[in-house]
Amino acid sequence: MTMSRHHRPAPLHQRLGTTRFLLQALRAPRQIGAIAPSGRRLAAQAASLIASDRPQTIVELGPGTGVITDALHAQQPPDSTLCAVEINAAMASHLTGSRPWLQAIHGDAADLPRLLQRTAIGPVDLIISAMPWSVIPPAKRNDILAAITDVLSPHGTLATVVTVPVRRLPAIRDLRLRLDTMFGQIRQTSTIWSNLPPANLWVCTNPRNSGPDRGLRGGTADAAAR
Ligand SMILES: C[S@@+](CC[C@H](N)C(=O)[O-])C[C@H]1O[C@@H](n2cnc3c(N)ncnc32)[C@H](O)[C@@H]1O
Repeated sequence: MTMSRHHRPAPLHQRLGTTRFLLQALRAPRQIGAIAPSGRRLAAQAASLIASDRPQTIVELGPGTGVITDALHAQQPPDSTLCAVEINAAMASHLTGSRPWLQAIHGDAADLPRLLQRTAIGPVDLIISAMPWSVIPPAKRNDILAAITDVLSPHGTLATVVTVPVRRLPAIRDLRLRLDTMFGQIRQTSTIWSNLPPANLWVCTNPRNSGPDRGLRGGTADAAAR
């Protein structure tokens, strides 16, 4: 009997990761913002956004225990760069220990320009985020969005996971308004109902103000005006 790609048992490091995820979610619910890692169908949907015709620079924000990371790794064209920025120390160390091929950075997505500069990673083609936007305070959210703007290439894409239960929350509506000002186009993928909780991706393209000199933060805007 053959099994489809999504029904094969998860590899051991992913099963261990699920336990670790749950422990961290109990310890730091406002940082993790979920009770379970993304499912492999959602991860595959995220990985399908990678352009296949040339090497890509891909950054994942909030990789957790690496379910989406693994799908990105499997799909990336040769000579691509894949980097993941995770604020939770236990998750970051799990990623470093279990995925030697990954540039895993323990840090805050709001510091993205500095973190990528330190690892000599240039303009980013694709940013995948499963950040818990509904529990991130507005000021931090704006800092993270500004950081994304700073590092994204002029033709870059941001794809962010949005779960069905939070879609109508004020924080997510605010996020959407902000993204509408940052990007020329936002497309929604089909909802993966088997994910826990159900979720889809907002795929944001045509960034209006990408690059370090035209970020959303006061400081960078001032620098551009000088
Ligand atoms: C909802 S979980 C998603 C985990 C994983 N990407 C997945 O889909 O299973 C959110 C992740 O974002 C991380 N996170 C939250 N705030 C962050 C920040 N400011 N910078 C980097 N990672 C952050 C959390 O520690 C957690 O691992």
